[in-house]
Amino acid sequence: LGDCQRCKLCETRQTIVFGSGNPNADLVFDGEGPGADEDAQGLPFVGRAGRKLTEIIEKGMLLDRKKDTYICNIVKCRPPGNRDPGRDEVDACKPFLIKQLKAINPQVIVALGKPAASTLLGRTVPITKERGTWHEFEGMRLMLTYHPAYLLRAYTKENRQAVYDDMQKVLEILKA
Ligand code: URA
Repeated sequence: LGDCQRCKLCETRQTIVFGSGNPNADLVFDGEGPGADEDAQGLPFVGRAGRKLTEIIEKGMLLDRKKDTYICNIVKCRPPGNRDPGRDEVDACKPFLIKQLKAINPQVIVALGKPAASTLLGRTVPITKERGTWHEFEGMRLMLTYHPAYLLRAYTKENRQAVYDDMQKVLEILKA
């Protein structure tokens, strides 16, 4: 990516947040884009949503975030004010995302939330309807689930159970 200037997010970012974790992992989580904490630290999912994601991985799946997973985002630079990334920004970053996912070549990719699911599937995904279902991205298995930031906003038993159930489906594949 170098000192990427392919979209206007370069004007307001502090750091490019490429990804973190084990580049040989069987499991990749793909979020939307860096927030303020991620932009400051240069690492994905290190703020409040990140702590929730870590809890899902470590308490819900009994995996080790650092050793067993790789974590990245659809766009590598922070959209100002945490707005959704624009179409032009997603399009500019997508070739890097594709190369990144193909290099890791995991057993399973989990798309966190609607923007990630929609970007990977190339269509507008109704996440409430399609979470928990299997798809394919460039020959790799793709599971869709809620974004941890959404879970924190809508912290219901039903939503927590939904993400838990989705992650058990992922574990079944990883253990097969
Ligand atoms: N939300 C995301 O989608 N990605 C991050 O890295 C942090 C919060």
